[in-house]
Amino acid sequence: MPSFDLGSPVNTALLLYILYSVQRILFPITSSPKSTPNEFKAGYSWMPKAHPPTVLFKTYTPKTLEPFSGQDGGRILLAINGTVFDVTAGRNFYGPNGMYGNFAGRDASRGMAKQSFDLEMLTPVDQPLDKLEDLQNDEIDNMKGWIDHFSNKYIVCGKLVENDAI
Ligand code: HEM
Repeated sequence: MPSFDLGSPVNTALLLYILYSVQRILFPITSSPKSTPNEFKAGYSWMPKAHPPTVLFKTYTPKTLEPFSGQDGGRILLAINGTVFDVTAGRNFYGPNGMYGNFAGRDASRGMAKQSFDLEMLTPVDQPLDKLEDLQNDEIDNMKGWIDHFSNKYIVCGKLVENDAI
């Protein structure tokens, strides 16, 4: 009659394996990974530490737009024809030392239309919005070309309205 011989190496190995499997079932590993998984391996098991950055669409006025000029490394916004773009990614262009830093935090419509970064292209922030009524058709077209460029490259994050509109 066959009997269970613990002295047999095969049986010993099997017994150890069974004991190991049973303790894994009774005491599963519950520790979290040391770093957040960032690649897809048959599904994510843990939530990312933080929500990815998002941009809220907001209504700005010339006065509330002005602080977003990229000073102190902050966000950089500019408006063209009522549309506000987040151009922070273009800090080299619009940051404090950038070639187009004059547009940062401002309504850049007239400068974009006339292809000029002269400061007189900018309307003082306490004045009504520039209505652009005197612009020539080719200047309006030029401005629209820039709107296309910015729409393809940056995030539209708001609209620009008169100071007393909100
Ligand atoms: C001195 C003459 C100028 C030179 C040499 C120059 C040069 C440049 C260069 C090299 C770029 C980068 C293009 C790219 O990498 O996509 C650029 C972009 C640009 N330029 Fe000029 N530019 C000049 C005048 C102007 C003027 C007068 C304006 C006024 C509106 C202007 C507005 C812009 C804008 C808005 C961009 C796009 C930046 C962006 O993609 O965020 N440029 N320019």
